[in-house]
Amino acid sequence: MIYLDNAATSFPKPESVYQALDLFGRENLANPGRAGHKMALAAERALDDVPHQLKQFFHGHPPDRFVFTLNGTDALNMAFKGVLNEGDHVITTDLEHNSVSRPLRAMELSGRITLSRLRADRGGTIDPEDVRKALTPRTRLIALTHASNVLGTVQPIGEIGKLARERNVLFLVDAAQTAGVIPIDVQALNIDLLAFPGHKSLLGPTGTGALYVGLRATVRAWREGGTGGDSSNETQPREFPYFLEGGTPNVLGVAGLGAGIKFVEDKGLDAIHRHETDLVGHLWKRLDRMPTFEVFGHRDAARRVGTLSFRWDGLPATELGGILDQAFDIAIRPGLHCAPYIHRSIGTFPEGTVRVSPGPFSTTEDMDRLADALAEIAG
Ligand SMILES: Cc1ncc(COP(=O)(O)O)c(C=O)c1O
Repeated sequence: MIYLDNAATSFPKPESVYQALDLFGRENLANPGRAGHKMALAAERALDDVPHQLKQFFHGHPPDRFVFTLNGTDALNMAFKGVLNEGDHVITTDLEHNSVSRPLRAMELSGRITLSRLRADRGGTIDPEDVRKALTPRTRLIALTHASNVLGTVQPIGEIGKLARERNVLFLVDAAQTAGVIPIDVQALNIDLLAFPGHKSLLGPTGTGALYVGLRATVRAWREGGTGGDSSNETQPREFPYFLEGGTPNVLGVAGLGAGIKFVEDKGLDAIHRHETDLVGHLWKRLDRMPTFEVFGHRDAARRVGTLSFRWDGLPATELGGILDQAFDIAIRPGLHCAPYIHRSIGTFPEGTVRVSPGPFSTTEDMDRLADALAEIAG
């Protein structure tokens, strides 16, 4: 199988991640922090070490502000439901994944918040000036994806973060498509809340993710329960990360995530980004020779990640995806990619597009095999 669906979750994982999962699962898989025995302490160590890695990786301050979650969606819900209050105004965009759009839309429909959804331009980028114009005295939060999971376009979060800070508005970045590919410095970029999965470009296993809660953000606890220590307290301990981490954490997944982050650091973000954008650049050139395929987004590698969407008038995206899977053993993701608003904007709703997302282990040959398959189908 040629796996080109890394925007959904990365595969394969580096060998070091499989080894870390195996070793940790066999030797240290106790309940962290719940007992004083050696295995529990080893498990606790993984939960202590990985936040330090994350702190370095994202320049977050301090490490206990990284709260482990089940995935990106969990982190985003934790942020929205923990931060927003009755009457708040939120600015978001039509590039967002449903894990941003749905919780915000539900809050809007229930009358708790008001919402402005900004439109990306034809190339798939939000104009910071539009954000400035949408600000009101009631704006509490700007919630924005760092890169579109449909078009791969990277958003100007530096300018928007600066604007948010000037106006004393909280800034949330959904880094699902960039964490592990593009450097993110939460302090320099004025990010108050950073939500990211561990199972995509950070190369950890599924069931991992985190929310970084900056010191300016006040969050309500949303999942209260056991934290291991401080059991006599009648309510959730206020101390981070326990305040937001009730229940037995996915310490096995966190150990795998630690190995994934280490792999990314060793390889270097620039090299990974260049590799993946070169691959989609190569595919795009091959698609140029097949004019019946329409490719979306802009070409500039510096303003995109390695995710490419296209459609073909000859067949709906889901059928094309089915043929690629069944006849050519190539895994891509057809459809709306949980991001219906941007598909409406680019005119591909409701069929969607075919999305191709190579990873660090994909090759030029994989791209050629896909392009050959498309040429054969179109022929
Ligand atoms: C931009 C974006 N945000 C959020 C998510 C949700 O992440 P998860 O699947 O880990 O819940 C995804 C997943 O594809 C995504 O692409």
